[in-house]
Amino acid sequence: TTFTEKQEALVKESWELMKQNIPELSVRFFTTVIEIAPQAKPMFSFLKDTDEIPQNNPKLKAHAMKVFKMTCESAVQLREKGEVVVADSTLSYLGAVHVKKGVIDPHFEVVKEALLRTLESGLGDKWNEEMKCAWSEAYDQLATAIKDEMKEER
Ligand code: HEM
Repeated sequence: TTFTEKQEALVKESWELMKQNIPELSVRFFTTVIEIAPQAKPMFSFLKDTDEIPQNNPKLKAHAMKVFKMTCESAVQLREKGEVVVADSTLSYLGAVHVKKGVIDPHFEVVKEALLRTLESGLGDKWNEEMKCAWSEAYDQLATAIKDEMKEER
C-alpha cells in the first residue's frame, strides 16, 4: 500500500478538529453504530441495559476514542512503513477482547460506516472524498490486523 503524505495530513488534520468535541463525537458514533446494527447493542456493557445512548459514559467514550485514535495512528504507520504495525501485546489483547464479546467480522464494516458518517457530520463542508478515502484505507488496514488476530484466538 502506498499512503501519501497528503493522505496522512488529511487524517491528522481532521482528527485534530474532531477531537475538540469528544463527548459529542462519541455519542454520535455509538448512535450511528446502533442505528446501522441494533443487534450489536447487547455486546456493549454500557448499552445493553438502556434504551438511550448514555451521554457521559467513560467506557463509551473510551471505545469511540480508541477507534478514532488507532485509525489515525494507523494512517501515520501506513505512510511511514507502508503497513500497520500494532504492538504484539496490544493486538493479541484486542483480538481476545473482541472474540470474548462476540464481535464478528461484519461488525467491522458497521463500525467503519459509523466512523465515516461521524466524521462527515462533524466536519461539515470540510469533509471531502479524499479524506474519506484516506480514513477508509487507514481503518481497513487496522481492522484487518484485528480480524487476523481474532482468527488466531478462536
Ligand atoms: C472493546 C478497540 C472495533 C466491540 C474494545 C477495547 C478496545 C477496542 C481497545 C477494550 C476496552 C477495554 O480495555 O476494556 C477497537 C478498535 C476497533 C474496534 C480499535 C476497530 C478498529 C470493534 C467492533 C465492535 C467492537 C467492530 C463490534 C461492533 C467491542 C466491545 C467491547 C470492545 C463490545 C467491550 C466494551 C465494553 O463493554 O466495555 N474495543 N474496537 N469493537 N469492542 Fe472494540
